[in-house]
Amino acid sequence: MDYKKYVADRVKDVKFSTIRYFFNLVNQMPEAISLCIGEPDFVTPIHICEAAKKALDDGKTSYTPNPGILELRYEIAHYLKRRFGLSYVPEKEIIVTIGASEAIDIALRTLVNPGDEVLIPEPSFVAYRPCVTLAGGKPVPVPTYFEDGFVLRPDILERFVTPKSKVLLLSYPNNPTGAVMNRKQLEEIGKIVEKHDLIVITDEIYAELTYGVEHTAFATIPGMWERTVTISGFSKAYSMTGWRLGYLAAPAELAEEMLKVHQYSVTCAPTMAQYAAVEALRNGDADIERMREEYNKRRIYLYTSLKSMGLECFEPKGAFYIFPSIKNTGLSSEEFAERLLMEKKVAVVPGSAFGESGQGFVRLAYATSMANLEKAVERIGEFLKEI
Ligand SMILES: Cc1ncc(COP(=O)(O)O)c(C=O)c1O
Repeated sequence: MDYKKYVADRVKDVKFSTIRYFFNLVNQMPEAISLCIGEPDFVTPIHICEAAKKALDDGKTSYTPNPGILELRYEIAHYLKRRFGLSYVPEKEIIVTIGASEAIDIALRTLVNPGDEVLIPEPSFVAYRPCVTLAGGKPVPVPTYFEDGFVLRPDILERFVTPKSKVLLLSYPNNPTGAVMNRKQLEEIGKIVEKHDLIVITDEIYAELTYGVEHTAFATIPGMWERTVTISGFSKAYSMTGWRLGYLAAPAELAEEMLKVHQYSVTCAPTMAQYAAVEALRNGDADIERMREEYNKRRIYLYTSLKSMGLECFEPKGAFYIFPSIKNTGLSSEEFAERLLMEKKVAVVPGSAFGESGQGFVRLAYATSMANLEKAVERIGEFLKEI
């Protein structure tokens, strides 16, 4: 049967990420050290797991209200206020979602009409472009550069704005570069957003993972709260990837529209995970601190090691990725990643997987033990000498 002819064009237009290709290769090589995976290597803190177990013991096994249990929405509102100075009304402006992933999807599906353009600073998280395409929109990559520390430059952003531009999809701290944007830089972006009447989806899932710099929530930039959908989740900060829990916060009128998409596609986020998340927000600050300190040691180790090997490297200030340039090796990102895997059994992701402006770079995730990183560094050193 010709199944292809039944598949919708917008789905056919979406390609699998090259990360998947590398995952498959790595899975066939159990002895390889993987620096591919953007997922914390810690297990979820025990008190958070206990809260989920208690929810089960208490019989909390049914659907919750569509936007999530009110207790959790209150905790999220409280958390966003105390950590980032953001104000949202729990009853009307917060929706608990199935990971930040679902929040990105429903935000885009709510906002995008066929042909609307969504500006995506790149290199970027691999899901953005496909999600825009699946929502019927047109992804418009906006390059960011090593020389600028991979922050989004207002003049470059403005060059890509057209009358069809509707949404700007921001994501700082950034996956894959580890770049963060400070308040002043975000204010400059805010001016362009206002001038061209854009709406902003800001994916701040790595907000808790910054090193020596404060995270600035985009919605706290003057004039931006009313134009912003703030997205975050529990996967990275609390090491809860498997729980599938995130949220979005937006002005009530927008959140109400998004709630329709959420309601009719997923009903609600997992119930016991929501109870676990209440505990995470109430009593999880010390866990974040402990994991962040560990990531920071690894970050410094990798940054200094890669530089001392002669790889040009931008110092990441957020998330758990480092994005060295491999241009001076003469190899493309794909060749570098494939040969490093085949010859030295170290898996990294070619920067080109995150958009064209990632060509000439590779992404290393330091969400793995220091022992693994030390072995990986040794092997990368050998590889660089041999090529
Ligand atoms: C920038 C970014 N946003 C969203 C996600 C997905 O997060 P979640 O597990 O909450 O769906 C990831 C996961 O890697 C990510 O890197």
